[in-house]
Amino acid sequence: MNYRHAYHAGNAADCFKHAVLVWVLRALARKDKPFFVLDTHAGIGRYDLSGEEAQATGEAQAGIVRLLYDDTAALADFLGLVRQLGLYPGSPALIAALLRPGDRAALCELHPEDWAALRGQPFARDPRIGVHRRDGYAAVGAFLPPPERRGLTLIDPPYEQPGEYDRVLAALRAGQARFPGGTMLAWYPVKHRAPVRALHDALRAGPVRDVLACEFLLREPIDPARLNGSGLVLVNPPYRAEAELPPILDALLARLGTGEPGQGAALMRLAGE
Ligand SMILES: C[S@@+](CC[C@H](N)C(=O)[O-])C[C@H]1O[C@@H](n2cnc3c(N)ncnc32)[C@H](O)[C@@H]1O
Repeated sequence: MNYRHAYHAGNAADCFKHAVLVWVLRALARKDKPFFVLDTHAGIGRYDLSGEEAQATGEAQAGIVRLLYDDTAALADFLGLVRQLGLYPGSPALIAALLRPGDRAALCELHPEDWAALRGQPFARDPRIGVHRRDGYAAVGAFLPPPERRGLTLIDPPYEQPGEYDRVLAALRAGQARFPGGTMLAWYPVKHRAPVRALHDALRAGPVRDVLACEFLLREPIDPARLNGSGLVLVNPPYRAEAELPPILDALLARLGTGEPGQGAALMRLAGE
């Protein structure tokens, strides 16, 4: 396990993922009934962008640093949380901030040091939140379906080993089989088109129902050595996703776009309800 998210926190792909995550969590909170969130690959929770790792890559300069003082309505919720939470919030900090009194979350992280850092975060002492040093894919079998019968599973692996797109696909299939009404959000890198096309084709073939994909491309994905963009598979999207997510994607593209050929943001349906 060599991947450390601290080198990439707050980059354009993180802003895209976290802006959509905030929208999904807010949408779940529109109904009074409690929900459960499973974060299968949680990372350390919060990131110091002035720290050694973030400074080594400078990736946040083309991400959250460009957005922080923006006042566009479509990004106001996400950016308001980033300002409020201080250190750049990873998925655990955003989830923790948006849980209501009856909601719960389970955060899984396998890297021993990152797990220890996650466990040391202030929100890890919250009785609604469990921090687990365990394999996030196995957690899909262990935690779903939750007793709340409402919820979100976020699948955000590092893609450092071959076969990660296949493991994500298997987790989406297992997740919907175990918890048919649950919402799932799975991140994937877009370096070149072939693995993304294979993932989309597999999702179009079923059996997972009600699948959208959002994509955020910085440029034409032809150089597999670069992170040219990223995508999010959204299963069982909350009501109004197709109306409310495109303005968020457009606002991100207007601010984080590179101007290079092939940049773009899109929402597409891969499987019907
Ligand atoms: C992309 S980062 C997660 C970022 C986080 N979701 C966020 O948005 O702030 C992926 C994390 O997964 C962890 N990881 C890798 N393999 C894992 C596994 N099988 N189960 C759980 N965590 C794993 C890595 O150590 C890394 O911290």
